[in-house]
Amino acid sequence: MREGLVTATLVSVYDRVAARYDLQHGLLTAHSDQRGRRLVVAKAVREADTILDCGAGTGSSALLAARRAGARGRVTLFDLSRAMLHVARERAEAASGTAPMTFGVGDLLHLPFADGTFDVALSTYSLCPVSDPVRGALEMFRVVKPGGRIGIAHSAEPRGALRRWLADKVESLVWRFPSISLGCRSVAVLPALKQAGARLRFEAHIGIPLWPFAVFVLEKPAA
Ligand SMILES: C[S@@+](CC[C@H](N)C(=O)[O-])C[C@H]1O[C@@H](n2cnc3c(N)ncnc32)[C@H](O)[C@@H]1O
Repeated sequence: MREGLVTATLVSVYDRVAARYDLQHGLLTAHSDQRGRRLVVAKAVREADTILDCGAGTGSSALLAARRAGARGRVTLFDLSRAMLHVARERAEAASGTAPMTFGVGDLLHLPFADGTFDVALSTYSLCPVSDPVRGALEMFRVVKPGGRIGIAHSAEPRGALRRWLADKVESLVWRFPSISLGCRSVAVLPALKQAGARLRFEAHIGIPLWPFAVFVLEKPAA
C-alpha cells in the first residue's frame, strides 16, 4: 500500500484546490462520490444527532447530514484545510432547514474531543489521504458515544488481479501530481474497527470497476 503524503503537503494541496475541489473530485470519480456520501449519511444519521464530519472538506456530507439531523441536531465540520472549510462555511450559510454547523481546524489523527462526545462520526474520502488511516478510523471510534455510529466511504482496491495491476499503474502516474491525486489512495480500515469492537451494520461497494469505493456503517456497542 502506498505511503500517504506528509501533512504539510496535504494542507497546501487542499488549500490550493479548494475552489475547484467539488468539480475535480466529481469528475475523477465519475460522480460516484456523491452516491457514497448519500449512502453513508442515510445509513448513519438520525434526526437530532450530534455529528462530527472528519475531513469535512467543502462540506458535501456535512450538509446532507445537517439536513437529515434537522434543527435539533448539530454538525461539527473538522478539517486540516482552512480553504476547504471556507467553501464549506459559505455553503452552510446559504443552506436552510439544517442542523447548526460549527467548524474546527485540525488533524483527524489527533481529534481534540473527549471520548464518547458524538452520536455519529463521518468520514467520506478523508481517510484516503491521511498518513495512518487506521489511526484516523480508531479516533472516530473513540469520540463516538456507546451506541453511536461511524459512517465511512473510502477508496478500495479493485477486484481482480488485472484491474488491480492497471489501477496501480494509473495511480503511480497520477501520484506524481499531488494536485490531481489529492494524496488519495485505496485504504482498508474495516478490520481494525471490527477488532476494536465496532459492529458492522451496513456495507456496500460502489464506484467504477477500476476505482471502487467501500461504504460502511458500524455501531459502537452500548456500554
Ligand atoms: C478527498 S477530500 C474529502 C472531503 C469531503 N469529506 C468529501 O466528501 O468531499 C479529503 C479531505 O480531508 C482533509 N484531510 C486530509 N488529511 C487530514 C487530516 N489529517 N486531518 C483532517 N483533515 C484532513 C483534506 O483537507 C480534505 O478536505
